[in-house]
Amino acid sequence: MEKQSNQKNESPIVVRQGRFDDLGIYYRLTNRDLSEIHKRPCEISDFSKQVVERDLGSRRLYFGIGQLKGDDVGYWKGEPDEINSNIVFFGGGIYVLPEFRNQGVGKALKQHQMDFAKSQGYSHLRTIIDNDNIPSLKISSGIGAVLESKGKTQSRFILKLGEHSK
Ligand SMILES: CC(C)(COP(=O)(O)OP(=O)(O)OC[C@H]1O[C@@H](n2cnc3c(N)ncnc32)[C@H](O)[C@@H]1OP(=O)(O)O)[C@@H](O)C(=O)NCCC(=O)NCCS
Repeated sequence: MEKQSNQKNESPIVVRQGRFDDLGIYYRLTNRDLSEIHKRPCEISDFSKQVVERDLGSRRLYFGIGQLKGDDVGYWKGEPDEINSNIVFFGGGIYVLPEFRNQGVGKALKQHQMDFAKSQGYSHLRTIIDNDNIPSLKISSGIGAVLESKGKTQSRFILKLGEHSK
């Protein structure tokens, strides 16, 4: 699945479905994601890479790669939800390199994640977001996701696919 983020063919943002060939990009983005979370340089371990490859092969992990003007600048990852795995897709995370943020890549990644989940027959998309993550909360409310439960630091949102996904 390859999709332009808006109606114009000249859109600088493209999101494509991630495949085994894209794992080098996936790991590079994961390293940046982890380093930002832990506030120190981090690298995905060889063991975690094996788990990723196993899960990708057994359809327990999916990802998309976002490009801005031809550069690989972000990704989404997701998996069948652990509770309602047959109908709910869990949007495990979206990440955009800091230097490419606030240009619409995050929204395009979320749209691609929604389209992907729908194309696979899922009826719902679930996400967990930190309560202080303003860009993520904006993306979530922009697609029409509704609050399922609010915790002290994180909240869970659910989107019924089909009503707002196009
Ligand atoms: C969350 C994240 C993916 C958003 O990516 P992005 O490419 O900057 O998102 P977009 O450019 O599509 O912007 C989405 C919305 O957030 C707004 N936004 C972007 N950066 C913002 C900021 N620093 N402060 C406030 N709003 C911001 C945009 O204006 C847009 O709002 P709109 O819907 O009203 O137009 C990115 O910030 C990121 O990777 N953060 C670190 C990882 C993370 O938190 N992931 C989410 C885990 S659930």
